[in-house]
Amino acid sequence: MLIKKKKDLPDNQVTDYSIYQSRRHFMKTMAGLGLMATAGGIIQPSFANTSRQFSTNEKLTSFDDISSYCNYYEFGTGKSDPKKNAHSLVTSPWSVVVEGECQKPGKYNLEDLLKPVSIEERNYRFRCVEGWSMVIPWMGFPLAELIKRMKPTSKAKYVYFETLLDPQHMPGQKTKVLDWPYTEGLRMDEAMNPLTLMATGLYGKDLLNQNGAPLRLVVPWKYGFKSIKSIAKIRFMEHQPVNSWQKANMTEYGFYSNVNPQVNHPRWSQRKERRIGEFRKRKTLMFNGYSEQVASLYKGMDLKKNF
Ligand code: MTE
Repeated sequence: MLIKKKKDLPDNQVTDYSIYQSRRHFMKTMAGLGLMATAGGIIQPSFANTSRQFSTNEKLTSFDDISSYCNYYEFGTGKSDPKKNAHSLVTSPWSVVVEGECQKPGKYNLEDLLKPVSIEERNYRFRCVEGWSMVIPWMGFPLAELIKRMKPTSKAKYVYFETLLDPQHMPGQKTKVLDWPYTEGLRMDEAMNPLTLMATGLYGKDLLNQNGAPLRLVVPWKYGFKSIKSIAKIRFMEHQPVNSWQKANMTEYGFYSNVNPQVNHPRWSQRKERRIGEFRKRKTLMFNGYSEQVASLYKGMDLKKNF
């Protein structure tokens, strides 16, 4: 994790969060000693701050809003259900199965998977398909780091992700609201883009269950449903996988799901969004404001067809 000095982080962004503060106090002490702390508490030497170029300086959404207003259908379809119900998810021990077109398949326990990574903080805009957005200080590491370690073969054109399947602890999986387990996919170049994050925490704390503990994806230029939570399987694939929302409704949800104010959802406009914590609506930006970093990935593609 990056240790932000006080001058880098306005006080109004952190003072509301007492839990974060105590942790931050610990980390500031560590920073004074020239050490870094990961979300898992492992101390590592400091590393170059390459991630800040991608981060936004916009006002952060409060920790309370981020952890209370959630989408996690395994725990109910209402926005407040995950906070109420996700305590039943067991996140330790946790393992991730890696399979398909790669040279290092296997079942990795989370500690082994995270041992070599440096956890960074990145403030990303996060936009949901139904018209709301947040700015979240994620803790995590580039997905590219993990992919490189798994040595994908030349056949690996896509990366597929699966959430844990555990109806006993995820009561929503006993219903038919989606085809379980929740699945997602990225094209390999999207997955390797430096913006694509494997998140382990936010606001300097490990992820809460309702936000996708212990490991979730964050793809800031895409609609929120691409950011699959509580990942238990990663598969390298030759062919484009189908995600949960495509399975639920092919005409409403596509594979790419790039934030695009020009392409409406069949049931609502995508031109404007409301930042949680604000009343006014703001114009939605192409690729959620990350065009400079990602527009080249889609050069020559018809983004109306490939929505
Ligand atoms: N992952 C799983 N496993 N199950 C879900 O229902 N919902 C998605 C995504 N990841 C979802 C999921 C949707 S629709 C959104 S908008 C984001 O998670 C919401 O993330 P947040 O609740 O942390 O804001």
